[in-house]
Amino acid sequence: MPELLKLDNVSINFGGLTAVDGLNMTLTKGNIRALIGPNGAGKSTIFNLVTGIYAPSMGKIFFQDQIINKLSPHIITSMGIARTFQNIRLFSNLSVIDNVKIGHHCRSGGSFIGALLRTLATKKEEALIQKRALDCLALMELTDKAEELAGNLSYGEQRRLEIARALATKPALLCLDEPAAGMNPIEKEKLANIIRKIKHMGITIFLVEHDMKFVMNLAERVTVLDYGKKITSGTPAEVQHNPAVIEAYLGKEVI
Ligand SMILES: Nc1ncnc2c1ncn2[C@@H]1O[C@H](COP(=O)(O)OP(=O)(O)OP(=O)(O)O)[C@@H](O)[C@H]1O
Ligand SMILES: [Mg+2]
Repeated sequence: MPELLKLDNVSINFGGLTAVDGLNMTLTKGNIRALIGPNGAGKSTIFNLVTGIYAPSMGKIFFQDQIINKLSPHIITSMGIARTFQNIRLFSNLSVIDNVKIGHHCRSGGSFIGALLRTLATKKEEALIQKRALDCLALMELTDKAEELAGNLSYGEQRRLEIARALATKPALLCLDEPAAGMNPIEKEKLANIIRKIKHMGITIFLVEHDMKFVMNLAERVTVLDYGKKITSGTPAEVQHNPAVIEAYLGKEVI
């Protein structure tokens, strides 16, 4: 199986704090990889490194064999890495479908002048963007909410809308930062099924999540992080029985 994303000895320091410390990690194309660890372990920081929000202090990040360390988030998105955020970031005063169309923006070839002049090419592109946005909403089971204001959606629906927007960028790698946070068990079940569907579309998933049942049911491999360092990596069964993992989660009874 080919490698999609590779972190080679990646570290980042914030002042005196090493938030990610010499991390080596490889994501196989087409898999669901989970990244777990206690609060402050460095999980979201890894997503920020992979998506270009931060540049590593040390080490290299490869995506499809290209070094992406110093590329801007915009370029990294256009190369095929999309993400959602731990804290929902939607335009609550825009409609649901407009929030998804914003995701298309990085893929669109239409120029600003073209948009102003409403050229035929731009109109064609707009129709395409509308269709793709509707496809993404259908996948996330939000078709009937397309014209509602994003701010009026339930919490679970807003989380799914964030994923729809990320999918609109046509990613090869989708990074989900706590997608099930705040969801009830029924919403979580629905989300798990949708994530499986996304995987079957050939999109590789990088999943950060605190709900261990959710993680262990979905991921092929799980990497465990504590204080910025990898404790272990393996199948869900291997990881759950690892004494160092149990130690990191001691008292939390999450595994
Ligand atoms: N921009 C920053 N400046 C300074 N410190 C930061 C910055 N970003 C993250 N950190 C620190 O890095 C560490 C890792 O944070 P991170 O948000 O990656 O943790 P996490 O594993 O996502 O935790 P959680 O499960 O609570 O979301 C924390 O100690 C955090 O305070
Ligand atoms: Mg986090």
